Amino acid sequence: MAAPIPTLSIAEEANATTTLGRRSVFDMMRLDGKVAVVTGGAGGLGFAMCEGLCSAGLAGIAIFDLVTDMGEMACQQLREDYGVDARFYRLDVRDENQVQACMDASVEDFGKIDILICSAGVADLVHAEEYSAAKFRRVIDINLNGTFYCAQAAGKHMIAANNGGSIIFIGSMSGTIVNWPQPQCAYNASKAGVIHLMKSLAAEWATHHIRCNSISPGYMDTPLNSSFADTLFGEWKSRTPMGRLGKPEELAGAALWLASPASGFCTGSDIIIDGGYTAI
Ligand SMILES: NC(=O)c1ccc[n+]([C@@H]2O[C@H](COP(=O)([O-])OP(=O)(O)OC[C@H]3O[C@@H](n4cnc5c(N)ncnc54)[C@H](O)[C@@H]3O)[C@@H](O)[C@H]2O)c1
Repeated sequence: MAAPIPTLSIAEEANATTTLGRRSVFDMMRLDGKVAVVTGGAGGLGFAMCEGLCSAGLAGIAIFDLVTDMGEMACQQLREDYGVDARFYRLDVRDENQVQACMDASVEDFGKIDILICSAGVADLVHAEEYSAAKFRRVIDINLNGTFYCAQAAGKHMIAANNGGSIIFIGSMSGTIVNWPQPQCAYNASKAGVIHLMKSLAAEWATHHIRCNSISPGYMDTPLNSSFADTLFGEWKSRTPMGRLGKPEELAGAALWLASPASGFCTGSDIIIDGGYTAI
């Protein structure tokens, strides 16, 4: 295997020539020496994106999640399969103090943070007229407020280190369209909020060389949806031009591209990966 290219500093990236020179585009997607935090990385899409980053030479990865046994197992698998330094931190993203404490601890353990993926999230289906304030608030608290607390905690460290970074928000096609026929107004509103939060932070933090982008999946085959396999999967597939749900690993390439210098001029963008659902 060819020796990995050294990670470019911000100044080197800014002064990079306009040609690839001797680098292949795959070299630009290497993450050697970089450290990532992935919230919700214990399972589903978060874990698939962890694998995507680790496959490109990531040095360290911190999984932040609510579920300890799954998080520890995920870290063990990443250590075994990729030889990466993977560590688990338990938190509820709704608690800003826990978020700050875990971010501080992981930066202490790994020495820095270069990449954050905010994948922790929940969904529930409740008709608007029946939504209790507590249930509505829970979805917004986890999906939107929790995402902000994580981005803020990572952003503080990135700004202090003055070495830039990449923050990848996990939105949803539900942030731009309304899913049908199931009722999910809190989820849809939370994801619209995540996408606009991403754009706001992209603008605010561009001068700190912190890029913010989002990935917005369509219907994906993960535990988040598994309880709807018998009732809604048929309808969802029929509304998706590709006629199927997405596989978690089909997000890994986009996550790696956004995390890496290959996407160096991309900030404030939402990448919809939905099998064509929102195209029609
Ligand atoms: N699966 C889909 O079809 C789909 C589509 C669009 C967007 N998304 C989004 O992708 C993200 C990941 O979804 P998934 O399908 O992998 O779901 P998942 O349920 O498989 O994984 C979500 C992870 O988030 C963790 N989590 C939940 N609440 C938490 C909290 N309060 N604090 C910390 N961790 C918490 C869970 O423990 C779990 O590991 C979510 O933000 C979801 O909204 C999923």
